[in-house]
Amino acid sequence: MWILVVERVASSYCKMTDGQPRATTFMFDFSLMGQRLGGASAISELMEDLGHALAHGGPDIKMLGGGQPAHIAEMDQRWADRFQEMLDHRDEFDRAVGNYDPPRGNPAFIAALAGLLQRELGWNISPDNIAVTAGGQTAFFFLFHLLAGEMPDGRCKKILLPLVPEYIGYANQSVKHDMFRAVPPRIELTGDHEFKYRVDFDRLEVGDDIAAICVSRPTNPTGNVLTDEEIERLSAIASAHDIPLIIDNAYGAPFPHIIFTSATPVWQEHMILTLSLSKLGLPGTRTGIVIAHPRVAAAIANMSAIVGLSNPNVGQAIVRPMIESGEILRLSRDVVRPYYAEKSRYARESVRSAFADRFPYRVHVSEGALFLWLWFPGLPVTSKELYERLKKRGVLIISGHYFFFGLEGGKDWRHQHECLRMTFTMPEQVVADGIRIIAEEVEKAWNA
Ligand SMILES: Cc1ncc(COP(=O)(O)O)c(C=O)c1O
Repeated sequence: MWILVVERVASSYCKMTDGQPRATTFMFDFSLMGQRLGGASAISELMEDLGHALAHGGPDIKMLGGGQPAHIAEMDQRWADRFQEMLDHRDEFDRAVGNYDPPRGNPAFIAALAGLLQRELGWNISPDNIAVTAGGQTAFFFLFHLLAGEMPDGRCKKILLPLVPEYIGYANQSVKHDMFRAVPPRIELTGDHEFKYRVDFDRLEVGDDIAAICVSRPTNPTGNVLTDEEIERLSAIASAHDIPLIIDNAYGAPFPHIIFTSATPVWQEHMILTLSLSKLGLPGTRTGIVIAHPRVAAAIANMSAIVGLSNPNVGQAIVRPMIESGEILRLSRDVVRPYYAEKSRYARESVRSAFADRFPYRVHVSEGALFLWLWFPGLPVTSKELYERLKKRGVLIISGHYFFFGLEGGKDWRHQHECLRMTFTMPEQVVADGIRIIAEEVEKAWNA
């Protein structure tokens, strides 16, 4: 129960954990940083929607909104078997749940990962290049604040997003200033109902106020995979300006390898690559990994110590032997990737048959990740309004406008309000029903 404290008298209501509003006088100001981080944000609303839909949604909710990975039976079984193995070797289990690891992460896990990246990808990586974090999301909070913001010489540096729409989870991470500068993409129309975003290098300017360039590859929300050539050019630009290129590899290779096209995984000394165990099927273990120059990796470990003492151990303990044996690569390639490739195919086919020629639409080429990105050119209502209408009908998607943050002077760009992101990880019937209802609501908007 909450304790009522009469400090500054200002009567208000707050929600108790039982959901009932109660009168309280517990009012005081939050700091500026507290207001930025403690206020509602797109990502907090999204995770609330997702968590509640998963916990209490009932059969009628079509949850196509979050980034929840599917429960793939073979993967779930493998985690359960590993847990059993750990219990059978009690000291392994006891260490995983009963010890603080060093803030950089579990040394055996880090050594195994460095070995895998050397062996399989030929990268010149040692344990000094690796730091574990409490999920990829936390890795980005640390990285952005390590690199950008107020500098010792008084300048304020930003993170350059060379292509938006980009991952909504970055948007509200800044504790002080707005942290991003974003560049709108070139839109390449492919086929009758498809398109692909490309980095518009003609508009990409890197001034001395840019701290780093950052992309997710595959991209959340669009399923875009930046081509090898785009990555090479971004890498060369970053290197020429002596700044890091951050590649968010939450869906990428070598694991979980949710990529349906060919793309070469890359790391060089001026790159920062983040990995995560979430989309392999272990989001509950909160395990993120940063691969970077030793100076950056050491700083991330120090930040983990300050913020959390150490990181969650269990995910690292579960996958360590699978990294040592290379099994994690086989599972990613033979189980996880084909599973999501089929989900993507099914969702695209459902869109094709439900949307037919009822209204103008295009789907971003689905090259990876867990989402379809739908564009309704000329949509008579905003995507936010469409989201509200769909929510009333039990379909949760994400309005595309949230993903276009950091654009200067781009507020009037209509395209931002014509897109939505839908997740295709749910059971086929849920995806098909959700798509059918999206079609009905878009058609209604056109006919109003
Ligand atoms: C592109 C991208 N980066 C990072 C994350 C963070 O994932 P996690 O904190 O679960 O590792 C996500 C989660 O959906 C994501 O989509």
